[in-house]
Amino acid sequence: MKIRANLPKIFVLSFFGLGAVILVSKTFRSEPETAVVAVSMPELSSDARIGQVLFNNNCASCHGDRASGTDKGPPLVHDIYNPGHHSDDAFHLAAANGVVQHHWPYGNMPKQEHVSRDEVEKIVQYVRELQTANGIAFKPHSM
Ligand code: HEC
Repeated sequence: MKIRANLPKIFVLSFFGLGAVILVSKTFRSEPETAVVAVSMPELSSDARIGQVLFNNNCASCHGDRASGTDKGPPLVHDIYNPGHHSDDAFHLAAANGVVQHHWPYGNMPKQEHVSRDEVEKIVQYVRELQTANGIAFKPHSM
C-alpha cells in the first residue's frame, strides 16, 4: 500500500534522477566532441617545409592547420600520437588504408591513396617537428 501511495513521488524522483545522469554524462564525456589544440610553429627543416605544404593540401581539411584538429578530425599534435604510441608506420598505414574510428568521435578516416609513401614521409617529418616543439615526446606504449 505504501509503495502504491508513493508511486507518483518515485516516478518524479526517478525522472529527475535519470535527467541528472544524462546531463552529467554529457558534461563529463571522456573525449571532447572536438579537440582543437593550440600549436606553436617552430623553425622547420627543409623536409618538414615540404611536408607542411603536403599536409596543408591533403590532411589539414580534417586535421587542421598545424595539425591542431578540426570538427572532422583529431589534432595530430596530441599525446596520443607521440612516436611511442603511433610510430611513423601508423602514418603510412593511415594514408594507405584509412583508419577505422577508434580513439575519437569523428568517424573513419578515408584512405589517401593519392599521397605517395615519400610524401607521407615528409608529412611525418612535419608533424614530428610540430610535436617536438609543442612538448610531445616519445613515450613507450603500454597496453
Ligand atoms: C576526411 C578527413 C581526414 C583526412 C583528409 C585525413 N584524416 Fe587522418 N584521421 C581522420 C580521423 C577522423 C582520424 C581518427 C580516427 C580515430 O582514431 O577515431 C584520423 C586519424 C589519423 C591518424 C592516426 C592513425 C591511427 O593509427 O590511429 C593518422 C596518423 C592520420 N590520421 C594521418 C593523416 C594524414 C597524414 C593525412 C593526410 C595525408 C590524413 N590523416 C588525412 C580524418 C582524416
